[in-house]
Amino acid sequence: VDVARDDGYLISTDPARIDRRAVHAFLTTAYWSPGVPFELVDRAIDRSLPFGLYAPDGEQAGFARAVTDGAAFGYLADVFVLEPHRGRGLGKWLVATVLDHPDMASARRLVLATADAHSLYARFGFRPADADLVMERLRAPEELWGPLPDAAGRG
Ligand SMILES: CC(C)(COP(=O)(O)OP(=O)(O)OC[C@H]1O[C@@H](n2cnc3c(N)ncnc32)[C@H](O)[C@@H]1OP(=O)(O)O)[C@@H](O)C(=O)NCCC(=O)NCCS
Repeated sequence: VDVARDDGYLISTDPARIDRRAVHAFLTTAYWSPGVPFELVDRAIDRSLPFGLYAPDGEQAGFARAVTDGAAFGYLADVFVLEPHRGRGLGKWLVATVLDHPDMASARRLVLATADAHSLYARFGFRPADADLVMERLRAPEELWGPLPDAAGRG
């Protein structure tokens, strides 16, 4: 998938195009993955359906990835737009593009986790999960990846 907007922003699923250092630099300070090592981000990109968002000058402007079986289930993860590019509809465009991908569009259940962007996803039909039906198992980032970096949570 390669989609361009009139103002020159581009979304591409080409894994070779991703500036993996830039994606890691954001994620390692994001509230949901503080301290995540580069190697883990690198492997996650290789084994997901990655969506890179690029500015008109070609620089990485954002990212999202879909973890999916390509048929019935999809998980939307690591959605972000870098600060200088926010507030122009790019986040909505990125999420819409991920959900439009055939591997996600065919899914019966799509899942995501968010601390504060519920209304962003609600417009695409996401609702709080049924707590009696859906279970999860979580581990603390510092248990997996060591002490939290100073900037953690300010992402
Ligand atoms: C969330 C994020 C991707 C939005 O990107 P963006 O390009 O600035 O967003 P858009 O311009 O497409 O607008 C997003 C819409 O969602 C709404 N929204 C809801 N929760 C939001 C939140 N926590 N942050 C930003 N926008 C939010 C906005 O108000 C806006 O709605 P509107 O058009 O009706 O005003 C971006 O702010 C970001 O990367 N934040 C830090 C990382 C993050 O929290 N990612 C989401 C993890 S679940």
